[in-house]
Amino acid sequence: MARRDDEDDRRSSDAYERHLADHERDRRRAQGSFYTPPDLVAWILDHALAGAPPEATVLDPACGTGHFLVAAARRLGVRAVHGSDLDPEAVRIARERLAAIDPTVPDADLERQVVVADGLTAWAGRTFDAVVGNPPFLGQLRRRSAGQNEEHRRGLGAYTDTSAVFLHRSLDLVGPGGAVALVQPLSVLAARDAGAVRTAVAGRGAVTDFWCSDRPVFDGTPVLTCVPVVRVGAEPPTDPGAWGRLAAPTFDIPAVALPGDTGVIGDLADCTADFRDQFYGLAPFVREGLDGGTPLITTGLIDPAESRWGRTSTRFAGTTYDAPAVDLAALRADGGLARWADARLVPKLLVAGQGRVVEAVADVRGEWLPSVPVVSVVPRAVGDLWRLLAVLLAPPVVAHAAARYLGTGLTPGSVKVSARQVAALPLPADEVAWAEGARLAERAQAASDAGRPELLAATGRVMTAAYDAAPEAFGWWSARVARRPDGKRPPLSDPAAAG
Ligand SMILES: C[S@@+](CC[C@H](N)C(=O)[O-])C[C@H]1O[C@@H](n2cnc3c(N)ncnc32)[C@H](O)[C@@H]1O
Repeated sequence: MARRDDEDDRRSSDAYERHLADHERDRRRAQGSFYTPPDLVAWILDHALAGAPPEATVLDPACGTGHFLVAAARRLGVRAVHGSDLDPEAVRIARERLAAIDPTVPDADLERQVVVADGLTAWAGRTFDAVVGNPPFLGQLRRRSAGQNEEHRRGLGAYTDTSAVFLHRSLDLVGPGGAVALVQPLSVLAARDAGAVRTAVAGRGAVTDFWCSDRPVFDGTPVLTCVPVVRVGAEPPTDPGAWGRLAAPTFDIPAVALPGDTGVIGDLADCTADFRDQFYGLAPFVREGLDGGTPLITTGLIDPAESRWGRTSTRFAGTTYDAPAVDLAALRADGGLARWADARLVPKLLVAGQGRVVEAVADVRGEWLPSVPVVSVVPRAVGDLWRLLAVLLAPPVVAHAAARYLGTGLTPGSVKVSARQVAALPLPADEVAWAEGARLAERAQAASDAGRPELLAATGRVMTAAYDAAPEAFGWWSARVARRPDGKRPPLSDPAAAG
């Protein structure tokens, strides 16, 4: 009998979800509803309810058809669960499923426990032992079209994803010792706009358990997800700037402990990124430049200690070039970007916006212009050029950046660093090894294609020692730097090659 009920129950929610999928995909996208796999529901309840008393209460503030509520009710009883959702049909089904589990609970009670309401404002003044669920993921643009009220966002940035706003709000809905365990997009780990939420978590407790997957687990969306289990009152608080490390093992990124007192790249160099003004300003002056012009270096042309300009084609502003070059005379005559170009045409490093490792190359004579989103690193002392390249080639630094900024890149497993983040990368403690690394980095850049891999590996090995880091960081980095036998680098998204 119980089995029949389970089946009927599943059939009714499955049918509703199919109906959503078939007829209301747009609306469903607009409300951010994708349903949670049962294994993940179980994991979340296991961890959120660990140590909870038998009379514990649970809230899912965006409960949909009640997957979390049903699973929690099977553990704690129907009277223990509470939910809200904006979708009246989903709420009706959730109540029906709960009624099927315990027909003795009066309808009037269920109507108070599971309500049609905005989960961001409902439940004020109430506390629960656990707040769980899979709240909607809605970036700012879709949120505006979904017409959501913004009052509860006070203190959080305009770009904070709705899922992180739910996490923030839920911290007030659990008592001491209680837990918040909500599915979040992976970007919650490092996105600047979720920073205030990570800080709020540190003010209330710690992330004591963490789930994450290196592939999408929700049908119909490629978004990578994670679940930080926040235990209120737990110590020590989780460093708001270091959530990325929680997911590093899932992405096979080795753990590294870097010195905190040796200074950072920003002490030796100015790091800057260009923006759309430069991109659109440059576009009219870019042409095929194999016979002259100032090389324009795009992210795709930057490899570790190597520029592929003139050897690999690249796209800029919708056009493919064999060797994109800027007509500097025309650019200067036009005036708009003349001062920008002069400031950039100095000895510097150019760092790719995103890659399998941090990819940087030295422009020794100051002859190249960067294209958005390349980061320019201009040393204050020209003598620091190769030392800085060695830092950017250092496996422990790359592993540190990969973990710290995990989830901010477009492709899972890619390393993405902004100008600000490059400036914050730490310098090594061992000056002697560093000097050796700088010499090797210079030789690697000067080497032929055949000679470079060995010199890059030597640089990586010496720089691993310069940071006194474990050899795992070197092994991880060299596997990611390696080219395939055909000379090409594996694509960023190639899971077989990732890690
Ligand atoms: C991803 S679904 C989660 C469903 C449920 N947690 C599950 O896994 O079965 C997100 C749900 O949030 C609901 N929703 C969107 N905005 C909401 C809000 N402000 N308050 C409450 N529910 C909301 C949608 O209707 C949808 O049912």
